[in-house]
Amino acid sequence: MTRQLFRNARIYTPLDTGRPRAGKAQGELAHFPQGAMLVENGLIAAIGNEPEVVALAGSAGETSEVDCGGRCMIPGFVDPHTHMCFTDLREAEFAMRLEGTPYLEILRQGGGILSSVKAVAAASDDELYQKTLGRVETALQFGTTTLEIKSGYGLDTENELKMLRVIDKVAKNSMVDVVATFLGAHAVPVAYRNDPGAFIDLVIKEMLPAVRKQGIARFCDIFCEEGVFSVAESRRLLHAARGMGLGVKLHADEVHDLGGAGLAAELGACSADHLLAASEENIRAMAAAGVIAILLPATAYSLRKPYARARLMIDQNLPLALATDCNPGSSFTESMQFVFGLAVLNMQLSPAEALTGATLNAAYGIGMADRVGSLDPGKQADFLLLDGETPAILAYHAGVSSIAYVYKKAKKI
Ligand code: NIG
Ligand code: FE
Repeated sequence: MTRQLFRNARIYTPLDTGRPRAGKAQGELAHFPQGAMLVENGLIAAIGNEPEVVALAGSAGETSEVDCGGRCMIPGFVDPHTHMCFTDLREAEFAMRLEGTPYLEILRQGGGILSSVKAVAAASDDELYQKTLGRVETALQFGTTTLEIKSGYGLDTENELKMLRVIDKVAKNSMVDVVATFLGAHAVPVAYRNDPGAFIDLVIKEMLPAVRKQGIARFCDIFCEEGVFSVAESRRLLHAARGMGLGVKLHADEVHDLGGAGLAAELGACSADHLLAASEENIRAMAAAGVIAILLPATAYSLRKPYARARLMIDQNLPLALATDCNPGSSFTESMQFVFGLAVLNMQLSPAEALTGATLNAAYGIGMADRVGSLDPGKQADFLLLDGETPAILAYHAGVSSIAYVYKKAKKI
């Protein structure tokens, strides 16, 4: 057995009480100003004030010690919403957006998600794998130790399965824990432009069974948006996906208040994501139904849209998670620290609320809270040592990484 004692750390972590932390509890962290953590075989054995943890370690055979130098220790970031599996960047479209063309207009003209679809179809498995792995490794350098990756640049059975296969290979070859989501209904393919319902039929009849047989995806997601898929189409797909044993999620009310958040509540979805335009009524319905809100402030930032109403959501007891949405169109960043800073400075979350959102609630948002997301005994020793005294450094020190060291299962990266 390998036993390690990490001492002399200012520890901050949400504690896992068996459900996502909402309302006031979102902002409550455990804090050990002179803390230590005992790890056995990569799993947390004990955490707390240094003298108590040291006493525990002393009675238990050989232990290697790491002095954390008084740095702030927090759980590794969990990024519960990314589209990192793609090939080419879309810088020319970024320039178009800067000149005033709306994001959905670029998609309507056959660009946007549809440009990435063309590029993914033309790429070999290996090219897609190398590029995806590179982004996952970047995320890890920036403190993300667990993340979700969606398919959705395939839009046909062959290419959706290819994306999921590549995501699975990345999962097997990276230190990062990776969860795969099937997003076959990410955009309406050109051939179905006048009949998105027929495309949903295809996703249900052909893609879903193939995805289930392949056995890689754990969730099914859909882009529920004006000009993309309606609430009725989303309901139909997600019912079928659930029937096949997949967890369900939605891109909901990102640009227009279509009622995706209400559908998430009706379905008891695991999460509804984006929610920039979600109505107060549907926010309340989500809270009552136990849905997690995954907020993506880097997308609002990049699209220059008003941020999701995070304070209202916390007041309504809706548990908030944070994610990058990393993708080549609406949010090109792998950095959860950047997202944390936006959440604190532009969505008025406290650093403690943002930390819970970027770790424990995010882990719940992708069904990983039994293993990661907080520094609770029994979980993996995935943690960060920050060049600062409190988690607030992540927002305060803007534009540079405050992450001195990243540990995955107690292994220094
Ligand atoms: O979450 N909204 C849809 N999907 C992504 C963007 C994907 C893309 O533009 O490539 C999003 O914003
Ligand atoms: Fe997204």
